[in-house]
Amino acid sequence: MTSQIAQWHAEHGNFSLLLSILEEQVARFRDGESPDYHLMLEIVSYLREFGDCYHHPREDAAFDILAAHDPQMRLPINRLLQEHRVIAVAGEELVARLNQVISDAYVLRASVEAAAALYLAYYRHHIATEERLVLPRARLLLSAQDWDAVARAAPSYPDPLFGSSPTAAYLRLARLTAERTTAQARQEDVAAP
Ligand SMILES: [Fe+2]
Ligand SMILES: [Fe+2]
Repeated sequence: MTSQIAQWHAEHGNFSLLLSILEEQVARFRDGESPDYHLMLEIVSYLREFGDCYHHPREDAAFDILAAHDPQMRLPINRLLQEHRVIAVAGEELVARLNQVISDAYVLRASVEAAAALYLAYYRHHIATEERLVLPRARLLLSAQDWDAVARAAPSYPDPLFGSSPTAAYLRLARLTAERTTAQARQEDVAAP
């Protein structure tokens, strides 16, 4: 089903854009500058709220059906399922550290930097593996009935950041991501022959 795969891929694009913005903040640690901790917190909060609670459960359901169709996918899929759990724990840890640093609690900058850099690298690798290994197989093997079963297992949830009406908590991030997307589209127009 093309529309579900397109939506799945689009969400990975949205997450990747957020990870790029998070990476810019992590680079500030390296350059001895002060990162925008609130922006980092908004990014990770969204990835927890939408990624952990909606995107990943939907993948969990789709992965199980995919592995039933193609048993050779069971091993990489089990690894990805485990990564969903690791990403959730790493995100929770990072949110806790960011909240500490924002509330002026004593927390080593290096520990925030390490937690953010780890989250970033792990999440990027996870998305790249899904795009490379899973989406092409899902496009080939999952039927309309399979996608109905996925929808029943993981009901849809309005995207609080990239959806049609971002929630108040993500308004600043929504403006920033829209600017980035427009700038990127402009660059692609200039680069086009
Ligand atoms: Fe995933
Ligand atoms: Fe994913």
